[in-house]
Amino acid sequence: MKKIAVFTSGGDSPGMNACIRAVVRTAIYNHVEVTGIMQGYKGMIEGGENFVPLTSRSVGNIIQRGGTILKTSRSKAFMTPEGRKIAYDNLKANGIEGIICIGGNGTFTGAEIFYDEFKIPSIGAPGTIDNDLFGTDLTIGFDTAINTAVNAIDKIRDTADSHGRVFFVEVMGRESGFIALASTIAGGAEIALLPEIKEDYTEIFEFFKGINNSKKSFTIAIVAEGNDEGGSFAIVEKIKKEIPDFDPRIVILGHIQRGGSPTAYDRVLASRLGNGAVESLLAGRKNEMVGLVNNQVILTSFHDAIYSKKELNPGLLKLIDIFNC
Ligand code: F6P
Repeated sequence: MKKIAVFTSGGDSPGMNACIRAVVRTAIYNHVEVTGIMQGYKGMIEGGENFVPLTSRSVGNIIQRGGTILKTSRSKAFMTPEGRKIAYDNLKANGIEGIICIGGNGTFTGAEIFYDEFKIPSIGAPGTIDNDLFGTDLTIGFDTAINTAVNAIDKIRDTADSHGRVFFVEVMGRESGFIALASTIAGGAEIALLPEIKEDYTEIFEFFKGINNSKKSFTIAIVAEGNDEGGSFAIVEKIKKEIPDFDPRIVILGHIQRGGSPTAYDRVLASRLGNGAVESLLAGRKNEMVGLVNNQVILTSFHDAIYSKKELNPGLLKLIDIFNC
């Protein structure tokens, strides 16, 4: 291969820039040219100025920056055969022979279909704060996101303690509770409401009914946005029907979890995976995601990364019960 492309797609995550830097520098080290595609699949279809030559210097001073210098999008046009044909023509016109895509499920689904149709090989790097990809212990951005959430929870604890209040803190995770579970343990919270666990609300009602008799001065419940009830407001409404004078506060952390400078852990992870992605592509691999499992860089097929279920750690779930004594 003489020339490859790199792009970011889907929700951004802290560490994507560190990954782009690793991709570009590994390619150049191996005498391969790199083109950055701005705005993910959208830019691949729109072509023109979205195709930017990248050098070692163009990725200088970005390792510490959140977001993605290549920008990102969720492209509807790439879901159509016509859109993908235009994207392919643009890649050919730019002499691109292989792709590194940094993103999540949707990104890898697109790359796999693209290979089936046009035989352009791709390797993916897992860039999402949700940590919901099979084939890697952690995704790029997850560690930063949970640190952001825990920083916020620490501040909420101060005011919760002062007023003796209950707080519901909602974190991201449309379909997965990884951020919520880690935030619960690290934030010392009492309750975690997760999409993966069917809640018995009678237990929750009992917990809050007994709260005045417990010795706890305040309570923090962490809610994953994708929980069954439909978010913190719906959960609080449900509890109020059972306990009318229940008067908690709700904080939705939202997109602050996607921003900020990546932690050292995320920078190292992104650097290893960006490097591994390029080395795998140049070695002739395709349709696979690089991940870190037991501290080893490994490859998992896009199919398994997308469709195999990464389970929450039962040991962490058990800790919530144990620490609630
Ligand atoms: O990046 C993943 C994620 O953060 C989900 O947890 C969340 O539901 C979603 O992205 C929201 O993304 P957007 O606002 O960009 O659609």
